[in-house]
Amino acid sequence: MNTQPRGLFLTLEGVDGAGKSTHVQWLVDQLTERGVQVVCTREPGGTELGEKLRALLLHQPMSLECETLLMFAARAEHLEVVIEPALRAGQWVVCDRFTDATFAYQGGGRQLGVERIAALEHWVHPDLQPDCTWLFDVPLDIARERLDRTREQDRFEQEADAFFERTRAVYLARAQQHGARIQRIDATQTIEQIRQHLSRQLDQLVTIRGLG
Ligand SMILES: Nc1ncnc2c1ncn2[C@@H]1O[C@H](COP(=O)(O)OP(=O)(O)OP(=O)(O)O)[C@@H](O)[C@H]1O
Ligand SMILES: [Mg+2]
Repeated sequence: MNTQPRGLFLTLEGVDGAGKSTHVQWLVDQLTERGVQVVCTREPGGTELGEKLRALLLHQPMSLECETLLMFAARAEHLEVVIEPALRAGQWVVCDRFTDATFAYQGGGRQLGVERIAALEHWVHPDLQPDCTWLFDVPLDIARERLDRTREQDRFEQEADAFFERTRAVYLARAQQHGARIQRIDATQTIEQIRQHLSRQLDQLVTIRGLG
């Protein structure tokens, strides 16, 4: 029998350019320093097949239905191959985006609405939610400015301002609805300020889990 306590599932969310990826490896390093075994992953992607689906999702034009179903296809694979085994083994999982992103982008940005996404969520992970989600929140002008400094833009980053605003609005609404799980972070702060805040939260999570 597996008596190992389950690991915690931590996710980072927010629109493109909000600053998620900037903190992912740092979070892993911080947890490792605190004695936690961590798996770092991302969506879409995280497995060999999932990364192939990611490349399609980010660059191949497709219908909204196809896009949404492919997101969950990749997610099902990711859960089975990476996330669930790690959590069962007591490892913590830090994931750059998860299902909140599908509600925000496909549900809000692309205006699919919540119902079909909720049905897919119920199919693919009826009993699993992240233990803690950090929502990196920035206004449009700052996100755009940050993205301009990076690389060639993908299918989502190329979208119009209204798409961004709808996506952000769904994220913020979900943070209100799921206040115990989703924490909004004012991502207009400096990287250092954000890390101080995250560091305190990691201390709390580790203490609650009896590791500190
Ligand atoms: N708090 C911050 N202040 C200033 N610049 C930042 C801050 N956070 C991130 N950046 C910069 O903004 C850019 C985008 O950040 P990052 O790649 O982490 O965003 P992201 O949320 O992962 O975006 P995407 O969804 O497109 O992957 C990077 O150049 C990063 O260095
Ligand atoms: Mg990123």
